[in-house]
Amino acid sequence: MAIIQAAKGTYDVLPRDAERRGILESQVNRIFGGAGYRRIETPVFESTELFARGVGASTDIVQKEMYSFDDGGGRSLTLRPEGTAPICRAYVEHGMHKLPLPVKFWYFGSFFRAEQPQKGRYRQFWQVGAEAIGAGAPETDAEVIVLLAELLDAMGVKGTRLRLASLATPETRVEYRDELTAYLRAHESELSPEVRARIDLNPMRAFDSSDRATQALMADAPKLLDRLGPDDALHFEQVRRLLDAAGIRYELDPTLVRGLDYYTRTLFEFTSDALGAQSGVGGGGRYDRLIEQLGGEPTPGIGFAAGVERILLAGAEQPIAPDPVDLLVVVADRENRDHTVVGFELTREARQAGLAAQLELMGRSLKSALKHADRIHARYVAIVKDQETATLKEMDSGQQHELEMAGVIATILRGSRLV
Ligand code: HAM
Repeated sequence: MAIIQAAKGTYDVLPRDAERRGILESQVNRIFGGAGYRRIETPVFESTELFARGVGASTDIVQKEMYSFDDGGGRSLTLRPEGTAPICRAYVEHGMHKLPLPVKFWYFGSFFRAEQPQKGRYRQFWQVGAEAIGAGAPETDAEVIVLLAELLDAMGVKGTRLRLASLATPETRVEYRDELTAYLRAHESELSPEVRARIDLNPMRAFDSSDRATQALMADAPKLLDRLGPDDALHFEQVRRLLDAAGIRYELDPTLVRGLDYYTRTLFEFTSDALGAQSGVGGGGRYDRLIEQLGGEPTPGIGFAAGVERILLAGAEQPIAPDPVDLLVVVADRENRDHTVVGFELTREARQAGLAAQLELMGRSLKSALKHADRIHARYVAIVKDQETATLKEMDSGQQHELEMAGVIATILRGSRLV
């Protein structure tokens, strides 16, 4: 019969991969937890409307990449493609504005987008992220960026670059869009056909064109960064000063666009040249209008998300120590059901005493059980001889000793050499 494989664009996190993820999770806890961010996890599915309203109906995510389904009662649900809108929903739903502000969260979970799978791009992927809600001060923007830089550094992510921009307010953006569209229309004959066809749909896309003539024209095009209102400009300047003071290098990129509609003001993205085409490790920005758009009081917010797989792909291979095994319990005569009970109980009591203990479960002979103990790096093997006695063997030294059953755990806990 044909075997069944994981669905396209999904993959298994095997125990050996889980270990590196565990390290990443504990680094997030250390770095973000230390700065007052606390863990939050929202449901894997939400009402489709949350993303349509929050992420933006015209984005690629909402138009093409959502896994949406009917819940059987005529309501449309969607597997979460991102975490910011759900966290803002939770913030409003739980009245968290009453908590001491800002409310700072971190999260680590799986997300879903119907994208074409390739290296570093999956249909189910994990993100680690953080959101700081309630604070509009530019220090918050810099804090989030500095902490993310620290996380990438702690994970040994190589070849990172930080791109930075400001998207101003939606009102400024509308004015700018008109100005850019007029500029493109005035130079239509010099544009590549693709860009020309998309002038009205998304004029910003012209900045990404690989066509030479278009690129030359875009070098002189009006830039949003030069059109910031006085408050937005001041905010952006302060974010830059703080990043300079923190020694974080960045490039201003007036063409930076991210596929979510909720951004205002600061926008940033870390890339790594250790990754292939999917070079974005993590990014984020400010979303000062999002909570209001979801029915809450006007509340500023800023955050980021980074791809767990991409951090691990671009990160250093930390040497992973094998899981410690303090004790392997082997029952010499497995046919004797009383002895088996004694072995089972010894293992259980060893665990209760805080030891990492395993019972031999495969019916191995004594000889192959000892080989197995070597393979799993067990420190001790206890061979249950009868109901009262066991032989305790220290694997490193090869020394062994007959002990009363009650003395086995105490001897290991003392860590004493057997004599
Ligand atoms: P995003 O840029 O859409 O932002 O995703 C963040 C990161 O998730 C990307 O930089 C990438 O590393 C990873 N990622 C995205 N799609 C995939 C995929 N199909 N396979 C593997 N990794 C992927 C957000 O999601 C925003 N919620 C970030 C944010 C938080 N903005 C403010 N707060």
